[in-house]
Amino acid sequence: MFKALVIENDELGYRTSLQDVSEKQLPDQDVTLEVSYSTLNYKDALAICNKGPIVRQFPMVPGIDLVGRVISSRHPEWQQDDVALLTGWGVGEKQWGGLAQKASVSGDWLVKVPAALSPLQAMAIGTAGFTAMLCVLALEKQGVTPQHGPVLVTGASGGVGSFSVSLLSRLGYEVVASSGRASDSEYLLNTLGATAIIDRATLSEPGKPLAKERWAAAIDSVGSHTLANVLAGMQRDGVVAACGMAQGLDLPASVAPFILRGVTLTGVDSVMCARPLRQQAWQRLAGLVDSALLQQLTRVIPLSEAREGAEQLLAGSVRGRLVVDCR
Ligand SMILES: NC(=O)c1ccc[n+]([C@@H]2O[C@H](COP(=O)([O-])OP(=O)(O)OC[C@H]3O[C@@H](n4cnc5c(N)ncnc54)[C@H](OP(=O)(O)O)[C@@H]3O)[C@@H](O)[C@H]2O)c1
Repeated sequence: MFKALVIENDELGYRTSLQDVSEKQLPDQDVTLEVSYSTLNYKDALAICNKGPIVRQFPMVPGIDLVGRVISSRHPEWQQDDVALLTGWGVGEKQWGGLAQKASVSGDWLVKVPAALSPLQAMAIGTAGFTAMLCVLALEKQGVTPQHGPVLVTGASGGVGSFSVSLLSRLGYEVVASSGRASDSEYLLNTLGATAIIDRATLSEPGKPLAKERWAAAIDSVGSHTLANVLAGMQRDGVVAACGMAQGLDLPASVAPFILRGVTLTGVDSVMCARPLRQQAWQRLAGLVDSALLQQLTRVIPLSEAREGAEQLLAGSVRGRLVVDCR
């Protein structure tokens, strides 16, 4: 038996509880891991607290991120005692996830934890840091360099936004943070390394098809009018990496930035992204992440407090990363 957070949804209603689960109930996948850590992402909190249609089948063990030691494997690439991490692939949504002491997953979904990162650090980075890295790689793929000019990050104090600001700053970019928490300037400027802050309200209302050329590149985790205004404010040949929808799933924009300024909009999907790109992103993260900052931003909670942590996350009372110790 092992401990797992289990979400059930039946005639008794939608409920989440810590349970003793038999190994026999694990999905029949080719790698079984002893999970050491998982993370609480916004998506996990929605699933745990029944605030969004995240879970596709029940009973479900939530947790879209996990790291652990391989205890058995039928997969050619993974042997007993290998330490591997997993983000996305529908784990915690369609497949049992990481908020448990054991997990059974496809070996094709796993990535070796880079030597420079501890399992705890890998989970402190989690999907948020991984997605931010994918956004930076997407900008680089389009040829963006620090010499091109300022890079705007929207949703800057959020999970993806914070990592985006920090990674870009460490790469030498001039980073402008768009945030609704301008009062948190100490965090955005001194802790994360932004060079300036703009109030997110300046981007969140319907705007013109084209605005003053300001940004060489942007990472947007907000969508909707914010993304439309970001596109309108791009410099000639600017590049925008879009990964989120914190304001909305819509994109009320015009083609003007594309056809009159050669702007590129590139999408980022961390869930189904291919393995070679995952390995590249984790290697880059291992070299780039500021371990002191990561430690400062991380709070570790036991599995028994994961539900409470999810509630705090949804209430907006968590800044930084909530790593769950599943051991
Ligand atoms: N594409 C992918 O693979 C992928 C992966 C991870 C996450 N995501 C998506 O990316 C988005 C951000 O995820 P996250 O984990 O960083 O979430 P998060 O920690 O909740 O951060 C979102 C941030 O967006 C800003 N924001 C929130 N509501 C807003 C609104 N109504 N208008 C404008 N800004 C708003 C806030 O930043 P300020 O307080 O600084 O304004 C907030 O901190 C989500 O939509 C998530 O679903 C996508």
